[in-house]
Amino acid sequence: MKWSNEQLLVDETLYFTGNGYIGLRGNFEEGYGTGFDSIRGTYINGFYETIDIAYGESAYGFPKTAQKMVNVTDTQDLRIIIGDEDLSFFTGEIIDFKRDLDIYKGISTRKVHWKSPKGRELKLTFYRMTSFVTLELALFKVTLESINYEGPVFFISGINGDVENYINPNDPRVASGHGKLLTVTEVKANEKIGSITSETKRSGHRVTTLVGHSNPGQVDEHLNKVEWAFSKTIRQGQTETLTKYVVFTDSIRHEEPYKAGRDLLEQALGLTFEDHASRQKKYLDDFWKYSKIRVKGNVSIDEALNYSVYQLLSSAGKDPFSNICAKGLSGEGYEGHYFWDTEVYMLPFFTLTNPKIAKNLLKFRYETLPYARERAKEMGHNKGAKVPWRTIKGTECSAYFPAGSAQYHINSDVAFAYIQYYLLHKDMDFLKAFGLEVVYETARIWLDMGHFNDDGDFMIHCVTGPDEYTAIVNNNYYTNAMAKYHLTWTVRLAKDLRDFDEDAYESLMERIQGSLDELSQMEIAARSMYFEYDEKLGVFMQDDSFMNKPSWDFSNTPKDKYPLLLHYHPLTIYRHKVLKQADTLLAMLLLDDVQMDVFERCYDYYEPLTTHDSSLSPCVYSMAASRIKRSHKAYEFFNKTVRLDLDNLHHNTKDGLHIANAGGAYMAVVYGFGGLRIKADGIHLNPHLPEELEGVAFSVNYGGTLIHVELGDKIIVNGELEVKLYIYDRPYVLKGHMEVNYE
Ligand code: BGC
Repeated sequence: MKWSNEQLLVDETLYFTGNGYIGLRGNFEEGYGTGFDSIRGTYINGFYETIDIAYGESAYGFPKTAQKMVNVTDTQDLRIIIGDEDLSFFTGEIIDFKRDLDIYKGISTRKVHWKSPKGRELKLTFYRMTSFVTLELALFKVTLESINYEGPVFFISGINGDVENYINPNDPRVASGHGKLLTVTEVKANEKIGSITSETKRSGHRVTTLVGHSNPGQVDEHLNKVEWAFSKTIRQGQTETLTKYVVFTDSIRHEEPYKAGRDLLEQALGLTFEDHASRQKKYLDDFWKYSKIRVKGNVSIDEALNYSVYQLLSSAGKDPFSNICAKGLSGEGYEGHYFWDTEVYMLPFFTLTNPKIAKNLLKFRYETLPYARERAKEMGHNKGAKVPWRTIKGTECSAYFPAGSAQYHINSDVAFAYIQYYLLHKDMDFLKAFGLEVVYETARIWLDMGHFNDDGDFMIHCVTGPDEYTAIVNNNYYTNAMAKYHLTWTVRLAKDLRDFDEDAYESLMERIQGSLDELSQMEIAARSMYFEYDEKLGVFMQDDSFMNKPSWDFSNTPKDKYPLLLHYHPLTIYRHKVLKQADTLLAMLLLDDVQMDVFERCYDYYEPLTTHDSSLSPCVYSMAASRIKRSHKAYEFFNKTVRLDLDNLHHNTKDGLHIANAGGAYMAVVYGFGGLRIKADGIHLNPHLPEELEGVAFSVNYGGTLIHVELGDKIIVNGELEVKLYIYDRPYVLKGHMEVNYE
């Protein structure tokens, strides 16, 4: 077997194990051979260091500092010595090698049948899991079976606090500096357990990493590192096992991380790996009940899709201090930042299947609202909140404003996710406790930054839409359309809360100094929102200037010049008609508010101009193609989406999974093939199954009721309780079982 370094790095990402709090890259415990690189990483969601942003030329309101996710203490270390030989799969002979991530058990395994250079034959299995039941807990287990060897073996298991972050000065999607972020402050160890506490100097956070083993070993303390040695004598046919228990606790969540961690470790040590595995399985059985997508007759698509779904779960923060990083917890791309990716691409999955996680993710924007209010002031707005383009703790971390702070649409993306959650779950407590406040505060920005022209049209200038290859424009279609929805719904939600609980409504309005007058301004702005429409083409323009730009010369752009952002100056790109990702079409899809013929013309106009240099693009085009019943195209884009990381289609999977794309794979099925939309009057389905698929089935948690949708020869819907829903815009009352023909 010949190792490829590129594939090893990709596999570190693909086989990452995470639970939304901890993320462990799929590194080999024992390391690689000399000359091979590894991005050895362990991350804690929301745990960051503050770093300076260096500008050649700064300007007013540029953020001065950013947050960066920290690579924390390495607990993967495990050396195995067979007699006098170090185990390394880069020496000797590999007879068999198999890696697996079981998404139904939540355990990853590496099975190796190996012959050492001296001919000692062994079978090893490395197991690991990050617990969904106790988020601070990770477990490693190794079994070693001797085929033909008799003699001593040593397991040397360690924790290492001497860690650094990965940097790459040549790729803007990865950090170029700030490698060393963590300093060890305390090491404790005895034969049973040990710990390393480290801190981030500027943000002042601490993380304690505690380790225990299934049996006591001989402890050896080094500078910033502890090792335990376990010596055994093995006979032919015999198997030896070692289990390592790891707990991470940090000062963002715990006042006394060491104490909290110690208690958790003691509890964890009371159970075997198998006990923890069976708890994990139970958690996942519940999860899959709502989340599983079944693809009939195509095992590989089924696996790839559910892999994406699983990675959404593994990446999603499940406490008020965290959200979902663009790369989940699988790598360091985008420095662990949270973007609009969460609200537009990932939340639809959680809103539809797991409202508890959805609500927590939504709440993050409420927890960080004070920072967004401050940011609004910095950006020159008297009132309201401006959601940061990228962040961990809540402040703006984007250093490049044309494709960062200028993406004001994020305000409405957040509101959109709030509104969708509310419409599906009718959760009045949510609306009352924080829902309306976030929607209202973020809506205010539009009144302040937009203006009415002489014809009474409401215009929004100087923004960047989702398409980052077109920057700082007037009346970006996506921004205006989403702002219109946002403003309209702010007014409706305010009314809903007033009707539901007038006191709560009054007290909120008093606290944020809202008024009926302001609400009516919002209504007028929404009603008067301007959209640039080209009569000749019958197409909505992406912005006011788009039509007059020359087209990008696609025919003379060689394949190796993509993504364009790595090969052309931004201005070269900005002055052309060329899209990095879906923009106008995305708004039309999410809002479902334009006529089919207009939508189809827009698809034909924008699709050839789109490079899909962003992984957030193909899934949108798949949904768009589904909507206009271009089933081959829909499938083609879907296939690219679902295989994007598995086949490393963007050549940067080593830096982490593209989690928005994982959410996009889910959406391509449920929103695309299923044509699902959440509207004011309930769930709408508009199914269209591509010929390439025999059938797909998915479930939805509709305000606490399980609805199961199957698309095969017919559309079959099953429901636990009686619910109203729409299929091809016709109302149905679902009672148990229903079958409808395709249109
Ligand atoms: C995309 C953004 C996205 C970011 C993080 C960029 O390449 O253009 O839309 O938010 O990646 O995933």
